[in-house]
Amino acid sequence: MEFLTIGNIIKFPGSNLNKTKVNSSVFIFIKLFDFLRALRFLNYIVFAHHKKGAGIHSPFVFGLIADVFNRPVDSDDLFEIERLRKDLSKKKEKIYYNDPGAGTRIKRQFPRSIGEIVRTSSTQRKYGELLFKLVRKFKPENIIELGTSLGLGSMYLAKGNSKSQVHTIEGAVPLYQLAKANFEMAGFENIHSYNDLFASGLEKLRKRVGNFDMVFFDGNHTFDHTLEYYEMCIPKITNESIFIFDDIHWSSEMEKLWERIIKDERVAVSIDLFQIGLVFFRKELSKQHFVIKI
Ligand SMILES: C[S@@+](CC[C@H](N)C(=O)[O-])C[C@H]1O[C@@H](n2cnc3c(N)ncnc32)[C@H](O)[C@@H]1O
Repeated sequence: MEFLTIGNIIKFPGSNLNKTKVNSSVFIFIKLFDFLRALRFLNYIVFAHHKKGAGIHSPFVFGLIADVFNRPVDSDDLFEIERLRKDLSKKKEKIYYNDPGAGTRIKRQFPRSIGEIVRTSSTQRKYGELLFKLVRKFKPENIIELGTSLGLGSMYLAKGNSKSQVHTIEGAVPLYQLAKANFEMAGFENIHSYNDLFASGLEKLRKRVGNFDMVFFDGNHTFDHTLEYYEMCIPKITNESIFIFDDIHWSSEMEKLWERIIKDERVAVSIDLFQIGLVFFRKELSKQHFVIKI
């Protein structure tokens, strides 16, 4: 359980400021941006009624809490990935690239060091474990990831079930190359990485891959683009497909997007975990939205 502490308010998920590198007006803008996000986090803390399953009447969601959210991870399973995260986060080597999406609040902050990318753009350990546990439980055959970055998210997904095939798309060439090297070095044979823009990469995967059993939307956080990718994925879902959205409260646009998805008639159950939103399409479930603290 997470308690509301000063640390929680200030260090809410994803918060990251580099005060020395931005001028004062940009700094004020970022402060305001983070303040608004802190308010959203407070709102989440206050309205997340369901803690560890109490008061949840949906057997499906209750099972998810027991088998996924509350089930611990054997640290041996993810040891290699965490070691890689540690190694990468120490790397000062700078890489030059243009982010093809709206993934950053500060424009033109490139080059960035590998360590900085790990700390600011890669899936955090807590949510990596969640990806791993979701795959371990549902065993999706095909997983699509929009946004590879250095490949940590892909590895958590791939590690959840060796039979699942992870298809991950990255538009920035240096990141694609580094991730590919990481996958090879760590010996992942069930990760297939593509250097492409999301829309064209998805178009190709729609033809090449069978069903989209799980989709992780983790890049280009704008309303229009994320909705476009969502609609591109919908014709490939099955009753059991799971969509995972990162940064659902990152900006007003992403909040609007999340509201839109929750209300979509095709969606059965949606779950707000603040950093991440989960979407299930199972027709046997009645339409319901949950806010859950993990
Ligand atoms: C938040 S990072 C992905 C993190 C990764 N999923 C993980 O778990 O570590 C988002 C990535 O998406 C890429 N990206 C953003 N918009 C894109 C687009 N339209 N096409 C291709 N790649 C894009 C960025 O270059 C960035 O590396």
